[in-house]
Amino acid sequence: MAEPSIDGKLAEEFAVPSHVEEVKESMTEFAQYHTSEGRRVVVITSGGTKVPLESRTVRFLDNFSSGRRGASSAEYFIEAGYAVIFLHRHRSLYPYTRMFSTINMLDALQLKSEQGEVVVDQEVLPNITKVLKRYQEVKEHRLLLPIEFSALAEYLHLLKAAAQALSTIGSKAMFYLAAAVSDFYIPASEMPEHKIQSSNGPLQLSLNMVPKILSPLVKDWAPQAFVTSFKLETDASILLDKAKKALDTYRHQAVVANVLDSRRGYVVVVTRDTQVELLLTDEDVKKDIEIEEMIVSNLTSAHCRFIDQNKV
Ligand code: PMT
Repeated sequence: MAEPSIDGKLAEEFAVPSHVEEVKESMTEFAQYHTSEGRRVVVITSGGTKVPLESRTVRFLDNFSSGRRGASSAEYFIEAGYAVIFLHRHRSLYPYTRMFSTINMLDALQLKSEQGEVVVDQEVLPNITKVLKRYQEVKEHRLLLPIEFSALAEYLHLLKAAAQALSTIGSKAMFYLAAAVSDFYIPASEMPEHKIQSSNGPLQLSLNMVPKILSPLVKDWAPQAFVTSFKLETDASILLDKAKKALDTYRHQAVVANVLDSRRGYVVVVTRDTQVELLLTDEDVKKDIEIEEMIVSNLTSAHCRFIDQNKV
């Protein structure tokens, strides 16, 4: 029997989130509004996906990602004139608030009077005024559309919905797939309903392969968009070969290759014709420059050229 298509697999084996159509409509409206205002639109995926082991989930497998890459990139895309759909893992780092993620909010506030007047301690929350001002401008101009996922099934269906929503704006759409997506899962039909009992002894798991979502995204769902995937390895010696192989396989526009330990200071942006190393120097670090600023600058220029080449 022929293998089912990825669309078929998605529909059969991954529960469809109840709000997916509503989210698709809001993404379509967002994309059309911003392109009519002359902006390009980027979908950023960020954070790790969660794979449940039981349908009434107590235990799950998780993919590592703090969400920092996606959250900081969202800010730089907005500064570059894009509108951002931020498809992120629930409670992973978020644009703007990421800067204060290590601070206990209650330590930053002081009760000034019996009437309940509260002031913010600027020493605890440095730069709060600047960040708050920018955050409010972004909100006012509706430049950021946040969409949350937790489980792998939600991620897959929401990314498909995003791709279909943005297919209406052609090459003005970019996908920036920084999320850490599980390669393995347990199909709903094989998942135990209740909590797995430790009294049954050691647990043996057999996991299926998750369909590579990049393939239908590039070929079918958003064929005119500029697509950037990320390649994460822990072994630097295989990284570039894997990045080039991904480009050959999926025929998309760029791969940002990074190694887990050095990902904050060094990446390679690989396209079919180029390979650009981006490196933060000690001077850059002192000036609070982040590598995401360089990645976004590189990709927004490539996106501009892509749009020009695809003009009819
Ligand atoms: O969040 P931080 O802590 O800042 O870390 C950032 C990061 C290291 C998570 C990020 O820079 C990164 O590398 N993200 C991609 C990690 C990853 O899942 O790599 P991968 O080699 O497993 O997947 C490669 C690409 O295929 C990814 O773009 C992914 O979206 C895509 N994929 C993966 C699985 C799958 N079933 N379908 C896919 O299309």
